[in-house]
Amino acid sequence: MHKIFAKTLFLGKNVVFLPHCHSTNDLARQLTSEKKTKDGTVVWTDFQEKGRGQRGNVWNSEPGKNLLFTIFLRPENFKTSEQFRLNMLVSVALSDVLSKYIDHRVEVKWPNDIYVNDRKVAGILIETTSSSSWIEDVYIGIGLNVNQSYFPLPTATSMKLEVHREFDRTEVLEQILLTIEKYHDGLFLKDFLKTRYLESLRWLNQERKFLINDNIEKGTITGIGAFGKLQVRVNGSLCLFDLKEIQFLE
Ligand code: BTN
Repeated sequence: MHKIFAKTLFLGKNVVFLPHCHSTNDLARQLTSEKKTKDGTVVWTDFQEKGRGQRGNVWNSEPGKNLLFTIFLRPENFKTSEQFRLNMLVSVALSDVLSKYIDHRVEVKWPNDIYVNDRKVAGILIETTSSSSWIEDVYIGIGLNVNQSYFPLPTATSMKLEVHREFDRTEVLEQILLTIEKYHDGLFLKDFLKTRYLESLRWLNQERKFLINDNIEKGTITGIGAFGKLQVRVNGSLCLFDLKEIQFLE
């Protein structure tokens, strides 16, 4: 089952698979420190003892049911100020792939949660190392709920729950790698990924409720600003928020 991906150009030519591990992001970092990764290495597991999410959250996943992997990249000439393009690249690629399998609209909840039918189907944790203003190593951790049928949280879903069939996880992973490769050059093209990202952005141009500075506020997402900040019109003013400054109230 755990093969080298034949159709891709550079992603997944080196695959490290472990039946279980701590966290694929942590393992990929460790392998890099031991010089065992190269651009495009995929670190993949069936179960994580300490899967990590954004904002210090945990990422739980039933053993052997879903996709849990980290892609290691070492881009050249990529500025830290452009880091949000990585989020857009992976969000757009995942939503493209899922749209092929699922009839419902696939949405990206800023910055990079993937939603179907108002429930989260995938999460992305991107970690980087940098030197002065240049990104050096990139770890793109992806957790995609594929064949899991039950979730303790009502806000989670899987491909199987949406489509009522099981999926071949290797095939889905190969599609994701191929699609990330397809968009990869977009990392260096201004606005290319942003246009596609905004097409999928959840709640764009809709008045919704948010938690801002401990207050419930009505606001309308109007776009993405510098450094990937969320641009929201609140009480007539355009404001920019980073991840810790705003929460979506569903
Ligand atoms: C989130 O939505 O908060 C991001 C979740 C990211 C989970 C993936 S699973 C593979 C990789 N390894 C981890 O420890 N986390 C990411």
